[in-house]
Amino acid sequence: MEIFHHIDSVRKALDAAREQGKTVGFVPTMGNLHDAHLALVKQAQGLCDVVVVSIFVNRLQFGLNEDWDKYPRTLERDSHKLRDIGCRYLFCPEENEIYPNGMDEQTRVIVPSMAGVLCGASRPGHFEGVTTVVSKLFNIVQPDIAIFGVKDYQQLAIIRRMVEDLCIPVRVVAGEIVREADGLAMSSRNSFITDQERPRASQLNRSLNWAKQQILEGERDFLRLEDEAREQIRAAGFKPDYVSICNSKTLEPAANDDLEITVLGAMFTQGARLIDNVSL
Ligand code: PAJ
Repeated sequence: MEIFHHIDSVRKALDAAREQGKTVGFVPTMGNLHDAHLALVKQAQGLCDVVVVSIFVNRLQFGLNEDWDKYPRTLERDSHKLRDIGCRYLFCPEENEIYPNGMDEQTRVIVPSMAGVLCGASRPGHFEGVTTVVSKLFNIVQPDIAIFGVKDYQQLAIIRRMVEDLCIPVRVVAGEIVREADGLAMSSRNSFITDQERPRASQLNRSLNWAKQQILEGERDFLRLEDEAREQIRAAGFKPDYVSICNSKTLEPAANDDLEITVLGAMFTQGARLIDNVSL
């Protein structure tokens, strides 16, 4: 595996691959790789000739009192994992490579329709940070295909919208949610869950599935379901951020006759904010 820290060098390697007619798949990450990240890489390997993974803990998408400084950085271990599954290229830039003029001066990309709701409501500026860095990474890597996990459902929807609105020539592919045995969605932030909380942490998933089941059985009072799901999360000892039953495409509150519905949720444990979603 070749490891690059600079834009010029990764571009050069990828230009050479493209000249040989190879297609390029891209998996952007913030590192601390777990099985869900590796599943995305394997999916990309099945779709493209060469795969690039990026690892960059993007400060622009963290709020001031969020966990940027304590976000787990495990580059050595991550690169071994990627090497073991035959990943071809790893791009892990320093912050001044991505933001040479500082973050305040950085040109931004904003998807206004979806960035202020759900996770965006409790993390102002978060999705602006995501869309800005992802568009930069797209311009650096110029992949044919980029894979994003469904676990971050809103992120995936926003990136699809950005690609459509800005005519970015990248095919965005979704990667299924990878879960622990009890249903908890894998996440780098799961390491912040305390041992006491861990057995109950799959409550978020259980409550979203409960709401999904109620809808499948014909319940149409979505507000009541959201309320009750939040109450279940509270009863398990966590602080719900939101539970929202949404139109899968627009992420607006679902209408009674919507055919594609996604139930999204977020909750706070003592040390982490966890998210999950289930689609009908
Ligand atoms: P990160 O949280 O490292 O996630 C990288 C990719 O892995 C994202 O597409 C995310 O949706 C996916 N992923 C994480 N856990 C998953 C799970 N349990 N199942 C399926 N996919 C999962 O998301 C980011 O980084 C950043 O916002 C990024 C897009 C890299 C921009 O900085």
